[in-house]
Amino acid sequence: MKILVLNGPNLARLDLREKSIYGDFSYAELEETVTRFAKDSGVTVEILQSDSETELIQILHKAADSKTPVIFNPAAFTHYSYAIRDAVVMLKAPIIEVHISNPLSREEFRHTSVISGVVNGTIAGFGLDSYRLAILALINLVK
Ligand code: DQA
Repeated sequence: MKILVLNGPNLARLDLREKSIYGDFSYAELEETVTRFAKDSGVTVEILQSDSETELIQILHKAADSKTPVIFNPAAFTHYSYAIRDAVVMLKAPIIEVHISNPLSREEFRHTSVISGVVNGTIAGFGLDSYRLAILALINLVK
């Protein structure tokens, strides 16, 4: 089983942004941790990141065509991108929305997710564990 882990804007700069909110790890460490945990769980992952709404949509189209299960952190697009929501709706395999922080405990504009209503589930607030929990949940959904 192959999973796509897709990360949205500004997430490649994790070690440079708001450590008190996102924790003290770099994007490279996120990639390593996710890859190792996936391997230990018996699945392979492709991990992609883009700051571009267009590129994220194109990646989601490919995941729809290949029926690939997705773990998706849409980052700030979570809160307002109907275009990304529409691309998520077209996916054929399960998709889990993840967030490193808990958006509901932060600024009001983060309390809205236009993505949550069209995914299988959302995991937020557990740092890197959000991705680990999502891998476990996705494996169970696809089984
Ligand atoms: C985030 C939460 C979003 O509100 C924010 O814009 C991000 C990261 C998270 O993983 O906690 O960039 O998706």
